Amino acid sequence: MLINQIEDFIRDIQLASIEKSKDKAAEVEQFRIKYLGKKGVISDLFEQFKSVPNEQKKEIGQALNRLKTAAQAKIEEFKQNVENTTQQSSSMDLTMPTDYSEIGSRHVLSVVMNEIIEIFSRIGFTVAESVEIEDDWHLFSALNFPHDHPARDMQDTFFVEKEEGKQEVALRTHTSSVQVRVMENNKPPIRIIAPGRVFRNEAISARAHCIFHQVEALYVDKKVSFADLKQTLLYFAKEMFGEKTQIRLRPSYFPFTEPSAEMDISCNICGGKGCNICKGTGWLEILGCGMVDPNVLESCGIDSKEYSGFALGMGVERMAMLKYQIRDLRLYFENDLRFLRQFDALV
Ligand code: DAH
Repeated sequence: MLINQIEDFIRDIQLASIEKSKDKAAEVEQFRIKYLGKKGVISDLFEQFKSVPNEQKKEIGQALNRLKTAAQAKIEEFKQNVENTTQQSSSMDLTMPTDYSEIGSRHVLSVVMNEIIEIFSRIGFTVAESVEIEDDWHLFSALNFPHDHPARDMQDTFFVEKEEGKQEVALRTHTSSVQVRVMENNKPPIRIIAPGRVFRNEAISARAHCIFHQVEALYVDKKVSFADLKQTLLYFAKEMFGEKTQIRLRPSYFPFTEPSAEMDISCNICGGKGCNICKGTGWLEILGCGMVDPNVLESCGIDSKEYSGFALGMGVERMAMLKYQIRDLRLYFENDLRFLRQFDALV
């Protein structure tokens, strides 16, 4: 039936699409020839229309007109589509930067660690590194820790091996163990700085963490004196916290140094007047230090009558806290981008 044929063509036209076509302009032209060309579908149907009985002429004539309009409308739609596509490609800006992809930045602890290393390297200290899993000798015994020292306790130390009759093995609780390894394997003069991770069995809070970082410094030579230590500390404090920084040393105790001291710096927030960071004292506790105990030198095979030395050790998290007023230790390890991005600009 002619009427059915016409309706089928109308449906085909409505469903036609050139979206996926590679050469859209050519496809539109083919479409036009197929339906509206001289020998196309529509002119053929008009030819057949001539022999349609009179009583059907009205219905079929109307259908044919709908078909023709549908074909013309579709071609218009296709042409619009082709135009948009070409406009898009000709207005494409080839010099436009590609999608912005974010690059990472150094962690604030790395920044501070590198700064400490840099300051010491300017006065001749070189970096020494060693293992994170240490034996009792390098961690405690060679450093003159008495057998019942609380640092050897389960509460502080993560033991890896703790068997009767065997040497204990643990995650290092401080970087002072690197001192021992360096002194055992090198002859003075020794001037090293040992940065690294340390581990302690502590409950995690704003002020304590089970993983943190330390930097240890060791200088051993003939006639190294407490005055050398003090001058080195003053140099370090000024480089790290600013030219106006003052230091003070308080007597303290560490098994591996004699005499031992703790160094405070004048509060870099209030300039020493007293504020809530320094708890009103004007001073901030920074690091432990002292003259290497002769027992330690001897344990490492260095003649304590010929040589002397100083050592110091500091916490990197604490340095960063004081420098950038970070209030909570946990922030360092949570990897919250809102925290990390605050230090983007540091190198
Ligand atoms: N090892 C000590 C600690 O973990 C820090 C320390 C203090 C290191 C005094 C030293 C030093 O070299 O002389 O708390």
